[in-house]
Amino acid sequence: MSSMHVHVTGIGSYLPERTLTNADLEKIVDTTDSWIHERTGIRERHIIAEDQMTSDMAVEAARIALDDAGIGIDDIDALIVSTTTPDMVFPATATIVQAKLGGKDFPAWDTQAVCSGFVYGLAHADGMMRAGMFKRVLLIGAEAMSRIVNWKDRGTCVLFGDGAGAVVLEAREEEGGVLGSVLHADGSYRDLLKAHHPHPGASPDAVDFSIDAAGVAAVEMKGNEVFRVAVTKLGEVVGEILAHCHIDEDQIDWLVPHQANIRIIQATAKKLGMDMKRVSTTVRDHGNTSSASIPLALDALYREGKLQSGQHILLEAFAGGFAWGANILRWSK
Ligand code: COA
Repeated sequence: MSSMHVHVTGIGSYLPERTLTNADLEKIVDTTDSWIHERTGIRERHIIAEDQMTSDMAVEAARIALDDAGIGIDDIDALIVSTTTPDMVFPATATIVQAKLGGKDFPAWDTQAVCSGFVYGLAHADGMMRAGMFKRVLLIGAEAMSRIVNWKDRGTCVLFGDGAGAVVLEAREEEGGVLGSVLHADGSYRDLLKAHHPHPGASPDAVDFSIDAAGVAAVEMKGNEVFRVAVTKLGEVVGEILAHCHIDEDQIDWLVPHQANIRIIQATAKKLGMDMKRVSTTVRDHGNTSSASIPLALDALYREGKLQSGQHILLEAFAGGFAWGANILRWSK
């Protein structure tokens, strides 16, 4: 086993300027602010501009994370973008981000585990870095979910938002950083939450990405069934990651969950015996930004000055597939 440990040395996030409130949604579908807020905890979400792509949001978040780490793109050895809404079918959005950041030669690829993409991506990066493949990795979660929701389906369109979050990871001998990860998937649930082609990331000239263009590549979800499995599997996976990392519940200082629904987050916090004051919640203002939601929620804690070196942070996510997982970090910045 390698003696290297993978630390977060820089973090940044980006939200598009435009916001869409629940009141705005009342004009689009048959819904109410109180229904959305009571069932999900969401009040508003950010929506990507017409001339922006997923890679543009990723670049904004990455620039802040690189600055925060005090390094430039030339110091990076690999770039991973977790996204469900790539700019194009190919090349990988990570290569587009690499070019926009002026990076060259190092490997760049996308990872797709829908809302669990960041948790999966962190596990990939950690394993490869501890195996000695890379010293510094830029990991970004970036999503333009507004481009794949069906704006005529009130059961799904009220839930999602756009944004990006990025971390710079560095392999060092000093202990701490990523303590471990557990990942799961069960494709027998694949029909409960899915989005078909045509692919939304096609050229902007080919597809009408506007909010009025219903059904471009619509998300379909059996919400209440997803909810039930999510609560069960997340309850199990938090127990599993604690055992895997030999950490007790009361040693967890912060829960940074995927932000799909405040009721799912509350159920997991309860399972861990954690006060909601120790849980990063951004779902109210961001909605579900898929794989961007964890780095956005982690960055929110960081920017509020709440993270102290030595604290334990539990990340967890549940996604279409289903794919789910968790990581524990010992903060070392
Ligand atoms: N506004 C008003 N009414 C709505 C609505 C909306 N936006 N969306 C659905 N409804 C209605 C339904 O039509 C249904 O009406 P009916 O009883 O007359 O048939 C009623 O509300 C209840 O629908 P249901 O889907 O059972 O509600 P719910 O309490 O399960 O809440 C979700 C719906 C989507 C908020 C919830 O199931 C959820 O969060 N699921 C998990 C989502 C998730 O985590 N997805 C991503 C994983 S990454």
